[in-house]
Parts: sequence; C-alpha cells; structure tokens
Amino acid sequence: MENKRNVQVSQEQIDEQKRILQNIAQINAQKGKQPKAFLVTYGCQQNNNDTERIRGMLFDAGYSFTENKADADFILYNTCAVRENAEMRVFGNLGALKILKRKKPALIIAVCGCMMQQEHIAKQIRQKYKHVDIIFGTHALYKFPSMLQAALDTNRTLMVSDVENSDGCIAEDLPIKREDGIKAWVSIMYGCNNFCSYCIVPYVRGRERSRKSDDIIKEITALTKAGYKEITLLGQNVNSYGKDLDSGIDFADLLRMVNDIEGIHRIRFMTSHPKDLSDKLIDAMASCKHVCPHLHLPIQSGSNDILKRMNRKYTREEYLQKIEKAKRSIPGLAVTTDIIVGFPNETDADFEDTLNVLKQVEYDTIFSFIYSKRNGTPAATMPDPITDEQKHERFARMIEVQNEISLKLNSAMVGSVQEVLVEGKSKTNPNILTGRTDTNKIVNFEGDAALEGTFVNVLITEAKTWSLNGEIVK
Ligand code: SAH
Ligand code: SF4
Ligand code: F3S
Repeated sequence: MENKRNVQVSQEQIDEQKRILQNIAQINAQKGKQPKAFLVTYGCQQNNNDTERIRGMLFDAGYSFTENKADADFILYNTCAVRENAEMRVFGNLGALKILKRKKPALIIAVCGCMMQQEHIAKQIRQKYKHVDIIFGTHALYKFPSMLQAALDTNRTLMVSDVENSDGCIAEDLPIKREDGIKAWVSIMYGCNNFCSYCIVPYVRGRERSRKSDDIIKEITALTKAGYKEITLLGQNVNSYGKDLDSGIDFADLLRMVNDIEGIHRIRFMTSHPKDLSDKLIDAMASCKHVCPHLHLPIQSGSNDILKRMNRKYTREEYLQKIEKAKRSIPGLAVTTDIIVGFPNETDADFEDTLNVLKQVEYDTIFSFIYSKRNGTPAATMPDPITDEQKHERFARMIEVQNEISLKLNSAMVGSVQEVLVEGKSKTNPNILTGRTDTNKIVNFEGDAALEGTFVNVLITEAKTWSLNGEIVK
C-alpha cells in the first residue's frame, strides 16, 4: 500500500458519479435543453483548480457556461475563508441572489469551498439563506454530481448538504474543464499540517495528502501533449510533497521527474514553506532546465518573536540563509513573498524588522495582507492592543518601501532581452500583447495576436513598478 492512510476515493465511486453526469446530460438532451452555469471563485489557485473540476463535471452533464448571472440555470460560489473580507463578499453576493431566485424558481444555487467547512458558517447559510439549494465543503467535491442530481430531483424543496469535516481524501480522474489553454495548474497535494497560528486553511482543507507521482506525471504529460506551455504544481505546502507516502519520492525528485517529461516548457510551483526548503530542492531548481528561476517563499514577518507566535518553525536568520543560498545557486532568481501586517501585538520594532527584511532580500513582489482574525485559530485569542489605524498605516508604509524596490529591480532589466510567454491581448489596450518572463514579470509589447501561446524574445525598454514594456526582437 503506497498511502500510509488510505485516502484515495475508489474508482467505483468515481465511475458512479460519472454515470450520474451522463444521466443528467441525457435528460437535458431529451428535453432539448442546454442549461447554463455561472461560476464564481474566491481564494487561491487551489480553489480555482477545484472550480475547473466542477466546470468539467457540469460540462459532462450537458451544461454550457455564461458570464451573465441573469441567464444562468445554475450559479455556484466557490468560497475562501482565509480572511474576513473574502467571506463578507460571499454573503453579500448570496443575499443579492434572493430576488433572482424568486423570479426564476428553477434556478439552482450552490455554495462550496473552504467557508463551508466551517460549521458555524454552514449553519448560518442553512438558516438564513434558504434560497441556496446545495452546500458542500472541500472534501465533498467529487460527490458534486450526486448533489446536483438530488437538487434537480427534489425540485429544490430541500437544501442538499455535504460539509463533513474529515481529514480529507484524494479523488483522481474527475472531469476537468480548464479556463486557460496556455497555462495549467496541477494540484500535487492537498491540505496542510502546519497550523500557523493565524491560519484557517488546515481546518478547512484537512491533512496533507500527496497524489501518487504516476498520476501527476500522467496528467502533466497529457497537458504537454495538448499544447500547454506552462505548468504550475500546486499545494499549500508543495515542498513537503511525499512525506505522507511510502514512495521515497520527495518534492525535489518530483520536480526532476516533471522536468524530464518530453516536450515540457515552463514549470512553476507554489507555495513553498521555508522550513521545508532543502538544499536538495535548491539543487533541483538549479539543474532543471524547465523549472523557472522564481521562488515564492512566504516569510510572513521579519520578527523572530512574531514568527514564533505564528508557529512558523523558522527564524529570520534561517530564512535569510536559505534565500541567500538559493540566490547563489540559481542565477537571476526572482524571489517573492507573503507578509502579514498587524499580527496580534505586533510592535513598532517587530514591524521595522519586517521592513528590514524587505530591504535586505529585495523581493521582486510581495503579497501583503492585514491580519484578519479567524475564529478557532490560536491567534484569535491573543491580546491585540494595536489599533486598525496603526495597522493600515504600517501596511501603507510597507507598500511604499516595496514599490521602490520593485521599481529598482525592474529598472535594472531595461536593455535586457527576455524570453516571454505570450498570454494574449492586454486587457487595457487590444493593440498590445501581454506575457510573462520566466521570473513571472508582466511584459507588454506590440505584436500580432497570432503569437498568443508562443515564446518570443522581447527587448525591455521601460520599467514600471508592476510591469515592463518592450519590443519584440528577432
Ligand atoms: N500555504 C500558503 C498560502 C496560505 S494562504 C503559505 O503557507 O504560504 C496565503 C496567504 O494568506 C498566507 O501566506 C498569509 O500571508 C495570508 N494569510 C493567511 N491567514 C491570514 C490571516 N488570518 N490574516 C491575514 N492574512 C492571512
Ligand atoms: Fe496556512 Fe501556514 Fe498552512 Fe500556509 S503553511 S496554509 S499559512 S497553516
Ligand atoms: Fe482560501 Fe481555501 Fe485557498 S481558505 S486561500 S480558498 S485553501
């Protein structure tokens, strides 16, 4: 047995779910109907990837997709619980659907994802949002077909619900319909065991469980054959991949296996935890030709006292040493990070420590968040005399410091030629193409729309804080 815990959903169960999708599709076809679905995703790439699975299931059940809520026969919100504002937006959106549902009683409204794994929220939806038809948590994703069937059968008189709180499982071979034809995200593991004191993720995503390397390689090989140019390996903590398996394959080994896939182009991965960033992994990044020179390594805070209270399991010094080693080993490495401002009782000195790390590491970009209290996590009970105003002030100051660094690093690229993967037309100007360097920087330039999905060489002519401008060179 490869898995220490038997977490894989059986093929029979998956086949049963697929049969349900075919049944629904058949009924739709008989009625000459092509129902439309409207899907909204909050949160991280893992949630996006889950939505792509739901899209795949709906597609197999005969649904098409719409960008217009009022047109939809099925509406789904895939929710995120990581910060309060993400939750508030979901409640706002659900409230607004009441009117739509009254006008169109056959409409099915579903809410899924991380928020639904919290008992008090699932209860609140059941009691106060009775126009919702289906709720399910992250562990029940693979059972979506039977829930959809039940909602269709009961004529929406009952709320269908599956928010079981377990350690979670792995469901292979679910349908998928990806949003992008150039870049693909592939979950290699699910869940998190780290229990950082501020974070809700381990409570809503269950324990770390890794997919078998054979299944991962099979999926990525197929994506490469289908023409995908960039693969991002996903997990809350990708570099602890394999620790729950008996296969002897760790994340560095997996990276090498993916790098060896015939025809593979760019490989990225996120997110890595500093405590699991081994020399072996740095060596693999340095020697794998297709692995992009970009490391996203969340530090969260530059203060050792706060890191300890965050339960991050590394010190500022250990973190900085690893960054230095990675920069030395991987030429041109871009480094990005996540930072929380205003963790309970963060002093001015703690905050200065964080600013100093920014200046020392010189991150290409940071993703910064104001601390949001999550009930049920250890940090929620820590005393916090710091005012919201102080937190916002610190946040603004940090952005200012970082913007200067980002602009400085981008400016140093002016005059260089970068290989850019063309993603398509710029959203703001249809005459301009947009793409990314291997270090994940956005580059805008003039070019033929037919270049979408190809690699071009671009001379960088101008630097901005968030992007670069350039010209295609032959
Ligand atoms: N597993 C990843 C990502 C987790 S969520 C990691 O460990 O890096 C993404 C980011 O959200 C985290 O890195 C953290 O910076 C932020 N975050 C998590 N919980 C938060 C909270 N309660 N308040 C504010 N930001 C939070
Ligand atoms: Fe949350 Fe920490 Fe796990 Fe990341 S590593 S998901 S921040 S508990
Ligand atoms: Fe949010 Fe869940 Fe991702 S809480 S950040 S959607 S794992």
